[in-house]
Order: sequence, then structure tokens, then C-alpha cells
Amino acid sequence: MVEYNPFDWQTAHNPYPVYRRLRDEAPVYHNEELGFWALSRYDDVIAAHLNHKDFSSAHGVTIAGMEKDAPFIIVKDPPEHTAHRKIVARLFTPRRISQLEPFIRRTAAGLLDQLKGRERFDVVEDFSFRLPLDVISELIGIPESARDQVHRLSDRIADLDENGQLADDGINATLELAELLAGLVRERRASPGDDVITMLMTTPVEQEDGSERMLTDDELAGRFLELSFAGHETVAKLIPNGVVALTWFPDARRELAAHPALLPNAVEEMLRWDPPSHYQGRWTTRDVQVGDAVIPAGQRVILVTGSAVHDERKYPDPDAFDIHRDIDRHVSFGFGRHLCLGASLARLETRVAFEELLRRFPDFTIDESGVERRVNPNVRGLSRLPIVVG
Ligand code: HEM
Repeated sequence: MVEYNPFDWQTAHNPYPVYRRLRDEAPVYHNEELGFWALSRYDDVIAAHLNHKDFSSAHGVTIAGMEKDAPFIIVKDPPEHTAHRKIVARLFTPRRISQLEPFIRRTAAGLLDQLKGRERFDVVEDFSFRLPLDVISELIGIPESARDQVHRLSDRIADLDENGQLADDGINATLELAELLAGLVRERRASPGDDVITMLMTTPVEQEDGSERMLTDDELAGRFLELSFAGHETVAKLIPNGVVALTWFPDARRELAAHPALLPNAVEEMLRWDPPSHYQGRWTTRDVQVGDAVIPAGQRVILVTGSAVHDERKYPDPDAFDIHRDIDRHVSFGFGRHLCLGASLARLETRVAFEELLRRFPDFTIDESGVERRVNPNVRGLSRLPIVVG
């Protein structure tokens, strides 16, 4: 019988064989010991995303669900979620995102130019971990003077212990980052400006009874903390996952280096082939029938994104990395009400990152001896990826 433990090192290293067995043998899988159910087929994952009434986010979105009381929109259900999401969505208009492109390019180019002349560098440490954090700081309007501090805190937050849990120092760093963001909010409250923090401060949120109110300082700081978490580690992992794909499939790398216009579709395939976010947690609010099985009320259910995007019922030859694949939709950014708010920003960052990377380093190999992966069942990716550039 198939056994799926997302915390197991072997599974974290390569979950795809076990995902295939789940889809074939146990599409509604129950792990009694760890206390969760798992949906692994594309159609079931989409259906659950679209059914927020039965599959709630309000009990947290991880297996442990420890974040359930955090001031994050990701752990809210409609109608509260709808009202709060509308406000944060104001940061992600197509115009705002496209205006960020020159900044993203400058930052990516600056990081990569520093590596010129080196025989090897670490894709994560020297590039992918740095870029998204600066982009989020720019998006939120964190002043230049505070960005070094944000980097130092994020480095500490990224340090997980051997069980993939945030170490004590990481928890302290999270609190310090939350305080730094709260400080910025307080500053703007005292002297409003023409910036994102002020904009969100002055946008009313609609309540269930139709009345309106402003966000509190704590809520605002919470929104920014959520964006820092949601938009940092994910992009920081997608870039190295893409570098691995282009190393294993060198024809694709050569084609992209020669024809960067193919990159937008290649980014979709990177998101599908090895997505950074491998599952989305939910909680059943009543007994729910999925196929022949009934999941009782009050159960943790994980929608296994990493499996859905390799479902052969949806994608032919799913393990192949094909930059010409016709992808009408994938679930790597989730689906439905909680669809990733930063999806277009993440796509832009990744496209620009690879344009600048391949322009300077069209040819590279991975130094396997230095590759490191941390067991983190939620955000999958490498923490060290040294490459040798030719
Ligand atoms: C490759 C990069 C990224 C991936 C793979 C990713 C993935 C996801 C997924 C799967 C969800 C849905 C969660 C759920 O259904 O429970 C989500 C939600 C979210 N993401 Fe992203 N994300 C990425 C980048 C970003 C960026 C750059 C930002 C912002 C700067 C961001 C902000 C958010 C927010 C605010 C939500 C919550 C939306 C809601 O609950 O309504 N993400 N993301």
C-alpha cells in the first residue's frame, strides 16, 4: 500500500514517484498517523480549490496549521477574505507590476554583474535569494536604508532546523521583521506620503454588514509580513528549480539562450515541472464526497499541487520538461479565490532573471557535490545550487 509522508527526507528529495502512486492507487489518501488526507489528481485539486465552503482555509494552510491565527489573507474564508483581498490586490495592478520591470532588471543585472569573471557561483545564495526580497521591498515601499536589515532578518528566517521547522532564532527574526514593518506603518501614520503604505492605510475595507472601516496598524503590518513570506522563498526556489531543468534538458537551455522570446512559456513549464509550493492545506467543514470516498468533517486535507501538475490525465509525458508545451492552466499558483496575488509579479521576476542569467551565462553545469536541499514539505527547492559557468 502506498505511503506518503511529506516530512520524509527521501520523499522531499524526489516526491514524484510517490505522487504517481497516490494518483493511481489512492487518489483520496488518508494518513491517519500524521492526521491528514491528500488529493493528488489534477481534477480533484481544482474542484477543491473551487469549493471553499467545504474546503476552508481558516484552519491554516499547512499540515500543522500553526499559522491559522496569523493576520494573513491566505487563512481567511469569504466574505472576510474577499474584502481584505480586494485591498491587497490594489498593489498588483498590471500597471504597477509592469512599472517594476526596470527595477527588477537593474537588480538582477547588478547581482549577476558582480559574478562576472568567477568560475562558479551559488545560484541561490548569490542570486535567487537576493532578487525577490529587493523586489518586495520596492513594491511595498521599504526605504533603502532599511533593506539591509530586511536581508539580514530574512537570512535568519530561512534557517530551518533539521526537522524543517523554523529555528528559535528564525522565530525571533520573524518577530523583529514584523516590528520593523509595524514601525514603518507607524511612521507613515504620523506623516503620510505618496506611497503604498499610505495608500493601503487610506483604503477602506468593507465589512459584512456593509459598513466600512480602515485597516489597523497591526493588520497593515501583517499584510506586509505576508507578502514578504509569500513572495520571497517561492521565487527564490523557482529560479534554482528552473536552473536544474535547464541543466537536465540542455537543448531547452540552448534554445532559450538563442531565443529569449520563448521564456514566458518556459517559465510556465518551470512552474509546472517543479513548482516551489507543493501543497495547499484546507479543512473540511462537513462530510465531503470525493470520488468513491467520503472525507469526514473537521479533517485536514492537503491539495497536492506538486502531484496535480504531473497528472498524466492532464499533461502528456508530465515528467518531461518541454518549453513548447501548450499549458492552458496549471495549479502552481493555486486556483480560485486564493489564486496567488503575486503570480504576475513572480512570472515577471522569473522571466527577467533568466533573460539576464542566460545573456551572461548561456552555458553552465551543476557542481553536484555542493547541492543542498532542506526538508520543507510546503516550499520545495534547493538551499544551495553551485554552478560552474563556462
Ligand atoms: C513562483 C512564485 C510563487 C508561487 C509558486 C506562489 C504560489 C502561491 C499559491 C499556490 C498560493 C495559493 C495558496 C492557497 O490556495 O492556499 C499563493 C497565494 C498567495 N501568494 Fe503566491 N506564489 C508565488 C509568488 C508570490 C509573490 C511574488 C507574491 C507577492 C509579492 C505572492 C503573494 C501571495 C499572496 C498574498 C497569496 C494569498 C492570496 C489569497 O489568499 O487570496 N506570491 N501563492
